[in-house]
Amino acid sequence: MKAPWYVDAVFYEVPVYAFFDTNGDGVGDFAGLTERLDYLEWLGVTCIWLLPFYESPLRDGGYDISDFRSVLPRYGTVDDVRTFLDESHRRGLRVIADVIVNHTSDQHPWFQEARLPGSPLRSRYVWSDTPDRFPDARVIFTDTHDSNWTWDPVAGAYYWHRFFDHQPDLNFDDPAVQDEIENIIRFWLTLGFDGLRLDAVPYLYERDNTNGENLPETHTYLKRLRAMVDTEFDDRMLLAEANQWPDDVVEYFGEGDEFHMAYHFPLMPRLFMALAQGDAGSVISILEDTPDIPDGCRWGIFLRNHDELTLEMVTGEERQYLWDRYAPEPSMRKNVGIRRRLAPLLDGDRRRIELLHALLLSLPGSPFLYYGDEIGMGDEHLLEDRDGVRTPMQWDSSPTAGFSTAVPQDLYLPVVSSPGYSPAAVNVAAQRDNPGSLLLWTRKMLDLRAGMSALGAGAFRLVPASDSAVFAFVRSDADATVLVVANFSDAPVTSDLDVDLAPTATLATAPGTSLEGTTITLDAHGWAWFRVEHPFTVIAARHGD
Ligand code: NOJ
Ligand code: CA
Repeated sequence: MKAPWYVDAVFYEVPVYAFFDTNGDGVGDFAGLTERLDYLEWLGVTCIWLLPFYESPLRDGGYDISDFRSVLPRYGTVDDVRTFLDESHRRGLRVIADVIVNHTSDQHPWFQEARLPGSPLRSRYVWSDTPDRFPDARVIFTDTHDSNWTWDPVAGAYYWHRFFDHQPDLNFDDPAVQDEIENIIRFWLTLGFDGLRLDAVPYLYERDNTNGENLPETHTYLKRLRAMVDTEFDDRMLLAEANQWPDDVVEYFGEGDEFHMAYHFPLMPRLFMALAQGDAGSVISILEDTPDIPDGCRWGIFLRNHDELTLEMVTGEERQYLWDRYAPEPSMRKNVGIRRRLAPLLDGDRRRIELLHALLLSLPGSPFLYYGDEIGMGDEHLLEDRDGVRTPMQWDSSPTAGFSTAVPQDLYLPVVSSPGYSPAAVNVAAQRDNPGSLLLWTRKMLDLRAGMSALGAGAFRLVPASDSAVFAFVRSDADATVLVVANFSDAPVTSDLDVDLAPTATLATAPGTSLEGTTITLDAHGWAWFRVEHPFTVIAARHGD
């Protein structure tokens, strides 16, 4: 049976506002996205993930929705979304969108109505006479909040919010909320989206004496949504945003009856950890601790996204280490994380950027690229909140980076100006013409990956290496076996691989790699993908197999 489409998809995350502005108002729009589909098709990604584009006061990048079935006028209309979907599909590209199920904006008419004394909508949100209920629920936005309760003088009660205090949580004990959210999902899937990322799913229900995360009631409701999608739609995908430990996050796959996909949050910081320590141990152990997932389910893996690089899924000691290494200035830190983009995090070092991408594109899971990382875009960490990683896409070297015809002061956010990362230094046009560019390298790797089905749906086995700096694994399907090796250290290394195989071809590699029998030599931060003769035997199989 053919694997579902998301199994070998390469996702490209992009906010509508950041990509391309067609009407010169300084804000990206749907017409701009449609115009730039040629670029995405050329690059070789296969599915676009759109950040929220709904009516919103934009106090949380649009994750604060005031009308779930609308498009923010500055981005376009529902018809523009339809055109964008049609044009994407015509090119064989899929599109998924974010739906925020846990909360609304406080400007949503439901909340405005619910606050009023005696309102029939009161039960759509979670209220309390005291701010002491659910004391075990952690605060997530630690920089701005110290409680999940906020007093509403109009309602004469406290309301519950897991995120900003302008984002009241919906009350999923109310059947009307359950139905409304289900209908919103129906609405966008009917319009033609191939899938939806459901935001912040661990927090749907609250119960006394719990931390309010991953509750059984939450899973029951999510399974109901999945059943609806399976009954009413073909070939669609639901993706869970659940920033949790592997044992908790696998619950979101259910028995293949909840989400099709979920992000692997704990893997991401460990890739940065391994690079900082020059040791593969942390990556190997999180993969060993990752339970198998049901058939037809798939991890979403990523290096960066529109949020801070979250450090919630590491120990306190590891967090401090990562902050010290990757966010030396306090302004680079945000909540329990780091608000920087990939290239500056890695000091603009091509070797390390390529190493992490070579792993992102070969580890088991569908890769999510973050717009601009394919050209090594920089950030502006002094901007508010996480705005510094959401600046305009840099198309050319002009002052507005070819993103807009507006004057620079009128852009929704300034173009990156930090040294070495301004449009003059980093842009699509220049890199398209430069055979040695990161952009053309990324495109070549995506092309290679597309021709190697083992890197999509293939089985995964860790390969033990004698040197702890070396990370090695194989991906394998009926067509081919691929051996991936990477050196996390900044010194050259020679290591034995505990595997019985015979490489037949080098698919891609950093300079300075050689393989003699099962002895691999890699340069500092070197890596390679080898095609391997079939069949192979991995001497030490993955823990748990
Ligand atoms: C998760 C989103 O990724 C993040 O950007 C947002 O701030 C929170 N949900 C709260 O809405
Ligand atoms: Ca515009």
